[in-house]
Amino acid sequence: MINIGSGISGAAGWYNVDNSPTILLSRIPLVRRLLRLPTWPRDVHRLDVRKGLPFADESVSYIYSSHTFEHFQWSESLKIAKDCFRVLKPGGALRIVVPDLGRIVREYLHNSAATASHDFLQRLSLSHGIHDLIHPGANHSQMFDEKSLLHLFRQAGFTSPEVKGFMESRIPDIARIELEVRKNESLYVESQR
Ligand SMILES: C[S@@+](CC[C@H](N)C(=O)[O-])C[C@H]1O[C@@H](n2cnc3c(N)ncnc32)[C@H](O)[C@@H]1O
Repeated sequence: MINIGSGISGAAGWYNVDNSPTILLSRIPLVRRLLRLPTWPRDVHRLDVRKGLPFADESVSYIYSSHTFEHFQWSESLKIAKDCFRVLKPGGALRIVVPDLGRIVREYLHNSAATASHDFLQRLSLSHGIHDLIHPGANHSQMFDEKSLLHLFRQAGFTSPEVKGFMESRIPDIARIELEVRKNESLYVESQR
């Protein structure tokens, strides 16, 4: 079971991967204190998934990813989703959770505050700058709504992707990995291989 872009909330029993440059630095106590880095769990492995998933074809039961695919360009996310398809066992499943662009747009349209347009753009978090040189996955590079996330699954080879609810999943013990804190901002799509 692979958790792509786990952040510091790596789940027990999962192979958690993340490419944050702070993972290795935070393991040096003095550097961690000086730079005030978060403490990364030992079971989060540093990996840039854009370079490929280091697993054999049809060898993995479940792949989960929360609030990470929006950090990739479309072409990168498609390559990664195809790689997920490759490593999943037939009958295995991919579940991708992203910020729900549809919901953000609806909330903007109902927001009568003078700052609504600024709040809207801030929530998209699409700005890029010098920090990309240090951590290319820090800000968003794309946003998904239901149609575009379902399209990503289909383009990657999945034939039956479905929009799901919070904790509504074929993944056993989903509560171990799905984050309550993401519930009210997220779009959940899942498909069997
Ligand atoms: C917004 S955090 C999500 C953390 C957690 N999954 C959650 O839902 O709160 C996105 C994570 O994706 C990671 N990430 C971004 N690009 C990545 C890449 N190319 N390979 C692996 N992880 C990446 C970032 O380092 C970051 O920890």
